[in-house]
Amino acid sequence: MNRALIRPTWAEIDLEAITHNIKAMIQRLPERTEIIAVVKANGYGHGSVQVAKRALESGATSLAVALLEEALELREAGIDAPILVLGWVPPEAAAIASKHHISLTFFQKDWLDQVSRLDLNGETLQLHLKIDTGMGRIGIRTNEELREILYALNDKPSIYLTGVYTHFATADAQNLTYFHKQRERFSKMLAELKELWSGEVAIHIGNSASAIRLPEGMYDFVRYGISMYGLYPSQVVKEEQAINLKQAFSLHSRLAHVKQIEAGDAVSYGLTYSAEKTEWIGTIPIGYGDGWIRKFQGFSVLVDGKRQPIVGRICMDQTMIRLDREYPVGTKVTLLGSQNGSFISMDEAASYLDTINYEIPCLLNERIPRIYKGR
Ligand SMILES: Cc1ncc(COP(=O)(O)O)c(C=O)c1O
Repeated sequence: MNRALIRPTWAEIDLEAITHNIKAMIQRLPERTEIIAVVKANGYGHGSVQVAKRALESGATSLAVALLEEALELREAGIDAPILVLGWVPPEAAAIASKHHISLTFFQKDWLDQVSRLDLNGETLQLHLKIDTGMGRIGIRTNEELREILYALNDKPSIYLTGVYTHFATADAQNLTYFHKQRERFSKMLAELKELWSGEVAIHIGNSASAIRLPEGMYDFVRYGISMYGLYPSQVVKEEQAINLKQAFSLHSRLAHVKQIEAGDAVSYGLTYSAEKTEWIGTIPIGYGDGWIRKFQGFSVLVDGKRQPIVGRICMDQTMIRLDREYPVGTKVTLLGSQNGSFISMDEAASYLDTINYEIPCLLNERIPRIYKGR
């Protein structure tokens, strides 16, 4: 017996959906714009190695992660495609990046000076310069910083500037005024860079929302994250129907216990639920210890293709649901995804928790094994 599946609770990752979502994006983009598959945070909770491999097979040409550690995990899995680390990496770790041919993001002259003093063991280090055009997170903000950095790069023979990029704060919003302001700031900074720098650099500005909405304005690459997993960056982008996506993630369990309770009988900690009449109650082995958080109380799951409400407090390892009739122990329960023609979307779960769809698969932690379909 597969040890990871002794407890019948699992997430299914549909790799065919990843392929579908990559191909849908390739179709939208002009030929000169390639896809960087964003697989940070363990592939948005889907499994970074498996998604990265499938994304590359489906037409993505490189990968991006947030941490150097995440990039190393991909290298250790035998992936040799170009990888860009999007977050700040401590300068003393840059030699690890150069050893494994991993590109880093930078935006501080001091950082560059510290890195230039490292022994790179004869290797070169490739860097992408981050420009903060209005996200307010990381990146250079002025032409002075740009000049200073380019000047400093001139006498660092093992360090190569291979990319320049920015990130949008409101590409998924109804009102795109700020988005266009950021684009304008970027093109001004780019013009300045081209004046001062003769080397070839890759340019990328777009996340999923911008790539879906303005595919022809995306320069050399798009950084394709949430929509590669089949999720729309926002309701606004979803309603525009510019692209057809397939949700890759579904979550399932099986009834571990089924019983009848009488009117007035309570369920779970704090007695927040009590039956109004004779009811069937099922218990499923998943709880907040898996990231299936207590706020899901009152949300529904699917049994026999029908919605059945979560009743009583969600415990660390178990959740109770009210069933429309008696079902045998072992009956499949779908918490996210489709069952017998019914569907619970990530968007619905996110909206129930008053959050964004990005957060849901990230919340569901490694205690839930990921099973890959479509291999
Ligand atoms: C710098 C950067 N680029 C690209 C992405 C991917 O964005 P999305 O998942 O909206 O496609 C992210 C995700 O947060 C990011 O931080």
